[in-house]
Amino acid sequence: LLGYAPEELTGRPLSQLGILSPGSMDAAMADASRVLSGGHISASVYELRARDGTRRFVEMSGAPIFEGENTVGVVCVARDVTDRMGTERALEHTLSELRQVLGGMIKILGLIVEQRDPYTAGHQRRVANLARAIATEMGVPLGRIGGIRVAGSIHDLGKVSVPAEILSRPGRLTENELKLVQAHAQIGYDLLREVEFPWPVADIVLQHHERLDGSGYPNHLRGQEILLEARILALADVVDAMSSHRPYRPAFTTDEVMEEISRERGALYDPEAVDACLRLFREKGFRLE
Ligand SMILES: [Fe+2]
Repeated sequence: LLGYAPEELTGRPLSQLGILSPGSMDAAMADASRVLSGGHISASVYELRARDGTRRFVEMSGAPIFEGENTVGVVCVARDVTDRMGTERALEHTLSELRQVLGGMIKILGLIVEQRDPYTAGHQRRVANLARAIATEMGVPLGRIGGIRVAGSIHDLGKVSVPAEILSRPGRLTENELKLVQAHAQIGYDLLREVEFPWPVADIVLQHHERLDGSGYPNHLRGQEILLEARILALADVVDAMSSHRPYRPAFTTDEVMEEISRERGALYDPEAVDACLRLFREKGFRLE
């Protein structure tokens, strides 16, 4: 396996053989003393250096040999798992590259929308961060929080189809213009359902303007008909929007925003999400940035 003749290694202490890579030394020494004092090891993986300097990985299992009460030796079985470790590392590497690419693409999608809507620069990123913090505070399982983050980062994607002059115009919109803007929830859904995400990203985006009492859009869903993820996102969206300056009004203070969401707790906004949000801002020093 390592290219040594047996006599080159026998009779010398493990730590001085030079076959264990530095990263595996401590684990191997700990395993060795465990077996020598009567314990077992199974499937410990060490990185070794062969005589020619190449790296090998072995999976080691071992047990003591007893004579009466005393350990008089150990028996170890080492299995060469170099190929498997190479494949695992390559897969891990590919996976992390894919995550990076996905993260990059989502960021670009978010930026494309915000270029058309200059008043909301950074809005989706802040909403994604706040929605994630609220979900974490509520104890939402980690597997669902990933979906909240992704949906939050691109929740206004459908605004790519809304005329830019409507998005950037200060002041009141006509009823027709308002309809065009509100269509962004449905358009975002239509675009995103083409992608097979491991989370219901398209539905979360579709529902991010729904309100508990049915007064939201586009489908006037109520209460539990709205996905938990969308209820959290809706709250984060409102908190960030109110906290931001708009050409037709100044930004609300954090206190004013917290009062507003408390007032609408259970009516427009999910009560648990509101409670979590209040704790974040009032007790845990959360800031939108
Ligand atoms: Fe929106």
